[in-house]
Amino acid sequence: MKILVTGGAGFIGSHIVDALLLEGHAVAVIDDLSSGSRDNLPATVPLHMVDIVDTAAVAGVIAAEKPDAVCHQAAQMSVSRSVREPLFDAHVNCIGLINVLDAAVRVGCRRVVFASSGGVLYGDVTTPAPESTPANPVSPYGITKWVGERYLSFYAAEHGITAVALRYSNVYGPRQNPHGEAGVVAIFSKKLLAGEPATINGDGRYVRDYVYGPDVARANVLALLDPSSRCMPGTLTSLNIGTGVGTDVVELEALIRQAVAATERGSGKPLPLPLHGPARPGDLRSNLVDAALAGRVLGWKPTVPLIEGIALTAAWFAKRA
Ligand SMILES: NC(=O)c1ccc[n+]([C@@H]2O[C@H](COP(=O)([O-])OP(=O)(O)OC[C@H]3O[C@@H](n4cnc5c(N)ncnc54)[C@H](O)[C@@H]3O)[C@@H](O)[C@H]2O)c1
Repeated sequence: MKILVTGGAGFIGSHIVDALLLEGHAVAVIDDLSSGSRDNLPATVPLHMVDIVDTAAVAGVIAAEKPDAVCHQAAQMSVSRSVREPLFDAHVNCIGLINVLDAAVRVGCRRVVFASSGGVLYGDVTTPAPESTPANPVSPYGITKWVGERYLSFYAAEHGITAVALRYSNVYGPRQNPHGEAGVVAIFSKKLLAGEPATINGDGRYVRDYVYGPDVARANVLALLDPSSRCMPGTLTSLNIGTGVGTDVVELEALIRQAVAATERGSGKPLPLPLHGPARPGDLRSNLVDAALAGRVLGWKPTVPLIEGIALTAAWFAKRA
């Protein structure tokens, strides 16, 4: 199969590219490199440096590549930027998505997989939220993810394509950008490897469901190939992708400190204890997703436990420090 991955030079997108190549598929990437990097991609993978907001450029690439399926990962993904610049957020996350969908159906593409978010759709939940939880996004980023799913549902019904929205929990792993506001595992790993303390917002008792990037990539591959054909043409299937296991930021920092200490770079150095900064306004206390449906529909479940994923991530950052 020929698969176009938008945002394929980013953290999750590049793991999807790797997983697709391993299965023998042809892959092309659209990415403007605003947060991704060419270094995340094998040299053999064609990279079209295009902004998804550019209607003509997106149409040109998709007409030339003629993908059988599109995996849409490119997005403006900063919640705080979406609050400051809702127009920019809507341009990238809504207009960009429509550009990709429009061009894809025009060349006869039959399947689209979309990176959605459980965190921003379900809000504060103390037990793993199933997909039936009413969506209540409060940030413009959350609203555009929800609207994105509605557009996918429309394109599926109108054009008979098979659409799958994967609602990720908190994804972490090698290649995550440590300079953004999200990606706490990447941010803390980088700080501790530099011998600096991690800064925990507020009391740190914020519970999240951390899922390993390559596990999320495998969910995308299963959604793209759908071996048991459980996702129907003409419909949108929304599936949670997470572990259902909650970890708070205080526990997470301790795990990362242990993992960094165990790397070649970290050993022998006293690793500083964390500092506590002010609480971030609007931060959810708890967010977890129930991924049982993804198990039944795609045969997916997470395989990498948090302690192992953090060790792999710390080792990856240590090599590049
Ligand atoms: N990381 C998480 O925890 C998480 C959770 C829920 C949902 N998501 C979603 O998963 C997807 C991938 O996220 P990620 O963590 O890999 O982030 P990322 O920033 O590493 O990847 C996004 C990629 O999209 C590219 N991009 C951004 N704007 C673009 C534009 N206008 N045109 C073309 N390319 C553009 C970036 O350069 C980058 O390579 C996003 O849609 C994000 O909203 C991520």
